[in-house]
Amino acid sequence: MHPQKLLYACALLLLVFAPEVSQAQFTVRMEIPDLYDRRGDSLTVDIETHDFGVPGLNNVETMAYNHKFGRRNDYLGPSLTWYVGDNQSTHIKNQLPMNSGMRTTVHWHGADIPAYMDGGPHQYFDPGGSFTAEFPVLDKPTTLWYHPHAEDVTYTQVQMGLAGIIIVRERGDTIAAQIPNTYGWDDFPLIIQDIRFIDSTQTIDTTQGPPGSDKERMIVVNGTVNPYMDVNPQPTSFRILDGSTRNAYMLSFVTDTADPGNTQIPFHLLASDGGYLPDSVRRVTQLETGPGIRNRVIVDFASVAGDTVYLMNSPAELADGVIGKSSSTPVPILQLRVGQQAVSPIGGLPRALPPIPAIDTMGPDTTRTILLTGDRGRTGEPFGIDSSQYDFNKINTVVKLNTVEDWVVKNLTEFAHPFHVHLVQFYVMEINAGSGFSAKPGDPGFPAEALGPKDDILIWPGEEWRIRMRFHTYAQPKPFNLDSSAYMYHCHILTHEDGYYRATANTLASRSPWGMMQQFAVWDGTVTSIDKPVAEEMTLYPNPAENKLYLNAESQKMSTIRLMDIQGRILMEKVLPPFTGSVPIDVSDIARGLILVEWDSPDGKQVKKVVLE
Ligand code: C2O
Ligand code: CU
Ligand code: CU
Repeated sequence: MHPQKLLYACALLLLVFAPEVSQAQFTVRMEIPDLYDRRGDSLTVDIETHDFGVPGLNNVETMAYNHKFGRRNDYLGPSLTWYVGDNQSTHIKNQLPMNSGMRTTVHWHGADIPAYMDGGPHQYFDPGGSFTAEFPVLDKPTTLWYHPHAEDVTYTQVQMGLAGIIIVRERGDTIAAQIPNTYGWDDFPLIIQDIRFIDSTQTIDTTQGPPGSDKERMIVVNGTVNPYMDVNPQPTSFRILDGSTRNAYMLSFVTDTADPGNTQIPFHLLASDGGYLPDSVRRVTQLETGPGIRNRVIVDFASVAGDTVYLMNSPAELADGVIGKSSSTPVPILQLRVGQQAVSPIGGLPRALPPIPAIDTMGPDTTRTILLTGDRGRTGEPFGIDSSQYDFNKINTVVKLNTVEDWVVKNLTEFAHPFHVHLVQFYVMEINAGSGFSAKPGDPGFPAEALGPKDDILIWPGEEWRIRMRFHTYAQPKPFNLDSSAYMYHCHILTHEDGYYRATANTLASRSPWGMMQQFAVWDGTVTSIDKPVAEEMTLYPNPAENKLYLNAESQKMSTIRLMDIQGRILMEKVLPPFTGSVPIDVSDIARGLILVEWDSPDGKQVKKVVLE
């Protein structure tokens, strides 16, 4: 529980949902999505029927991602593995019904990738169509996720089951070697979602019913209502994704569901959205999560061998205005059956995590204010950003390559909104609750859940969060071509994000007027005429770079790349065969500091500066 919640004195609109499950049974074993470990993945998007594990919901129409090279799956998608530095490619085919109007995209939530591969609303493909996403993996070891993001149908498609996790690994990750890290053995994904079923028809409700009518609302974990799983009495890692379209949760591990307050098992927060927490793990007893957010935690079951542990949700402890809050007593959502004997346990906690990032001490080059607006209860103003709704054809914000930006995100509405930014991982610099409470990282009351690197934060009503990020990889020249430059920032409650249809898998009906989403582009500082192909401009990323630098360009002929110090002395020279796209350059042996990179092709010479750090 966060201290600042006590400061919400004013009576906010309270959403009261009936308890999700009255008599929890825990008789169905939890599914663990299959894990793939390939550089080339091939997925299809399909209509399926799925058994949620409770009577009356055994034959529900769903959507799923299926891996071409694996076991058939009928809800969610397989877990994918990406390795830092590899070129990853994924082919996706839309096999939704031909005349459904169900275009789709696949968005790689949290990934540092070019806008035209991002799978946002601009990269859509219709039923029968397909898309190939290809990019080098520049992220840190963490848990990302993928889901559809086509305008107006994101909510319906995610609610029906389209979501999956991505495990980013790094060869030689010394932290990974110290912790439980074997998928399906001592490292498990927990994808938590809220679903409202219409019992009478065995369907998932993708309309948005009025508050109070949510009798058939349930929480599912990896696609099962009230599942159980077996764990060993030893340190165990969980990658928790709030894959809900709307709900937030307050999670804890307890041994007695009748006395959850006194039987909590403390656990450790190891990583947030974009990687390991700065400095060290944090010990917590509760974890607040919200739509789109990932947390990796380590729970040590050694002291409860032979016992039964429950993952609990405590909806009454969420702040007012958070969707998912209710007056309900804590509800168990997963049963963990702890074995008697540890089996080759791995360490537990890492000795240290990466240092607090330097970004903390850099001043921002630019500060912007972003207002989350809308007032459904009083004036009926639809949810939006800066009082406007999503516009597919407009770049709302232009940021500059290699600059640091602070965004002050203010929630002027009476609901909490999970605010998500594509492309970057950011750090929360300050939280202001309005009523006098304010905290910076390290201050008492600063929630462990807000420690970076983050791409998604749950902002309560009246709060103002200052986040800091640096744009240092992909950029485009002006004028912007929307299809190749637009990234999104938005509320991750999928009914708020853009207009959504009251729909089933096969029909699209009336559209909502909401649109809490805007677009940004990263400008590389140059201007090109529209007919000059962008690929001929050399781009270098990341900048600063560590071990690998990528040259993105195109040349039909042989060319040469030269790395020089600032006096122009050649540090390295390499001849490149004809290529299109990205070429990796190993810079791990070059002294750190500012260098010049010259690319010499028959079409001309280009020079740019890069920092090695
Ligand atoms: Cu997870 Cu723009 O989305
Ligand atoms: Cu995203
Ligand atoms: Cu919202």
